[in-house]
Amino acid sequence: MRMTDVGVMQNFMRMCNDGWLQGYHERNGGNLTYRLPQADVALMRPLLAPVPGTWTPLHVCAPNLAGEYFITTGSGKYMRNVLLDPEGCLGVVEINPQGDSYRIVWGLANGGRPTSEFPSHFLNHSVRKAATGGAHHMIYHAHPVNLIALTYILPLTDRAFTRALWQSATECPVVFPGGVGVVPWMVPGGAEIALATSKLMEIYDAVVWAHHGLFVSGVDFDDTFGLMHTIEKSAEIYLKVLSSGQPVRQTITDDNLRAIARDFGVTLREALLGE
Ligand code: 13P
Ligand code: ZN
Repeated sequence: MRMTDVGVMQNFMRMCNDGWLQGYHERNGGNLTYRLPQADVALMRPLLAPVPGTWTPLHVCAPNLAGEYFITTGSGKYMRNVLLDPEGCLGVVEINPQGDSYRIVWGLANGGRPTSEFPSHFLNHSVRKAATGGAHHMIYHAHPVNLIALTYILPLTDRAFTRALWQSATECPVVFPGGVGVVPWMVPGGAEIALATSKLMEIYDAVVWAHHGLFVSGVDFDDTFGLMHTIEKSAEIYLKVLSSGQPVRQTITDDNLRAIARDFGVTLREALLGE
């Protein structure tokens, strides 16, 4: 068996390509990480490098991820190339017993490194693992056009973004009843934006990066890709309405949102409702 025959690796590769097909990943834009369940680590163990790479500090620390393994996209790699060259574009990394360094145990051939956003992914995994009792395994970052466009015209608040998205497609409050958080513009790729994002991930499973993109967290591939897709589609509807030049005659009201929540058995973050 080769690494690319392992089921989770196939799902990971498919999701990278799905994101490319949706237009979320110009050039090397966006990145994806998957915290491997123990059973998959056991399956992969005979396929890992006999001599792992050296430990590299992450400059952030998460003791609850000590000893975990992740599949990650590589820094500077293009999502559109993942299916053609998985071993060059992707890697499996192991976290050290202190939870502050990683080493490459498969892939990222020819000197590749994990995504430059690995610190954000890592801290987000840490808080989502804790918040969901270990249920969440995925963090996905993309550059969806319509959502990014909204960060130029909406106030950069959790409330403004959540309400715009909830009101733009009836299924939205069911898919992300907790709403979305917003991080103001920050320099990407480091510990500072990682800390700001993971703070919001304590309560949200989706966080907007102003003028940059979106981070989402989920249980599995369908759940996580579906959340990215739903949020971006809602942003597209909102933007189309604004761009139409027509006055908004009607929308989904707060009481409508509460009625959806009641019938679908979800709890909306009430602080985001009301005038
Ligand atoms: P990487 O190529 O390092 O994953 O960076 C892409 C990106 O989207 C940075 O935010
Ligand atoms: Zn990015």
